[in-house]
Amino acid sequence: MGFDQYHEPPKELPEKTRTFARMMASLIEEAEAINWYEQRIAVEKDSQARAIMTNAQKEEFKHFGMDLEFLLRQKPAWRTTLEDILFREGDIVEHGEQAEEDAD
Ligand SMILES: [Fe+2]
Repeated sequence: MGFDQYHEPPKELPEKTRTFARMMASLIEEAEAINWYEQRIAVEKDSQARAIMTNAQKEEFKHFGMDLEFLLRQKPAWRTTLEDILFREGDIVEHGEQAEEDAD
């Protein structure tokens, strides 16, 4: 990925923002890994290979979760929005609309 995570000159960005950008890049990479394993598992015919990749995908779930938690600790407003949406039963769109109202 190199320095693709920056959209402003890195030298002008505070250290905290550079760390945030690196963790955002990491979150994206973990999401990509989850997706890649999902597709590989879907087409793999060998059960042992599938079991190994399923185990590996679980590791990526953990990495994604740790990255996300780090980022949410930097952005309380993001956490507040997600608290209205995540880990709740019911209509996802309604929860999203509620989160938008609560954010205003
Ligand atoms: Fe990972």
